[in-house]
Amino acid sequence: MRIAVASPIDGVALARLREHHDVLCTYEDPRPLPEAIADREALVFRSGVAVTADLLDAATDLRLLVRAGSGLDNLDLDHAERRGIELVRIPEPGAQAVAELTFAFMLALSRNLISADRSMREARWAKFELEGHLLQGKTLGVVGLGSIGTRVAKMGLAWDMRAVGCVQRPTPERERDLMASGVALLPFEEVVAQADHLCLHVPRTAETIGLIDAGVLARMRPGSYLINLARGGVVDEAALLDALTSGHLAGAALDVHGAEGAGERSPLADLPNVILTPHIGAQAIDAQRRIGERVVEIIDAHAATPRHQEATR
Ligand code: MLT
Repeated sequence: MRIAVASPIDGVALARLREHHDVLCTYEDPRPLPEAIADREALVFRSGVAVTADLLDAATDLRLLVRAGSGLDNLDLDHAERRGIELVRIPEPGAQAVAELTFAFMLALSRNLISADRSMREARWAKFELEGHLLQGKTLGVVGLGSIGTRVAKMGLAWDMRAVGCVQRPTPERERDLMASGVALLPFEEVVAQADHLCLHVPRTAETIGLIDAGVLARMRPGSYLINLARGGVVDEAALLDALTSGHLAGAALDVHGAEGAGERSPLADLPNVILTPHIGAQAIDAQRRIGERVVEIIDAHAATPRHQEATR
């Protein structure tokens, strides 16, 4: 197949794809993306690549989209469906990586790890300024108890935290399953009001854009922490800046941002109690290896279908 790989993926997978297919890594190609993918039959992409209707229409032979990860907020799904382009997502391998990074953020925030490291590099022995908090006994609030959020909640239980969370459409079955594993399903506002660590794990949709606004931030517990590994745009960053500057929130960690990519500087970048990372939630080598293996399987399976055979006859 003629494949465009629009975001870096696991190197082993890329090498395997190249054994049987014509692979073009567009991030190494100087041409504009629509031009580079014009003759491609499959497109492999991650976050950071806007797969718009115009981009899809630039590739008239495109029959397969492989989302090497979870989020679909960067894809014009309706247009892909209208065009009859098959879409395959690979959400599971990244879920553990995102959940683990959420936990790393909770630990780093509650024990001031970033400030401690900075003070050492400045030859300052700040031991007595750097008192933190235990996670044990605190309330972990998860907004979005899906595959990632549920893992985070269970990790919290293993650390002797109290785990509460919400889902967009609660059902009695979901509530029963969560209760059985020790996680309390509550309304969104209750989760916000009770959490010492409020972790976001919702997709970016019309319903979640701006979900965490000034009003919600004001209803969070004084001295609590906000952790966003969902998507930029879910949090109003200007309102978060105010909540952190006023001291209402003790800290925040964001892996996803309103504006992402080289040259972008977060409005929160001057605050010492904020951790910022460049959308690395799924960037665990083991997770990317598994995603890469699935990419190869999906492409090879598609190449063997009658639809592909017919199109290339
Ligand atoms: C995802 O949705 O899986 C993440 O954003 C990871 C990525 O695509 O880089």
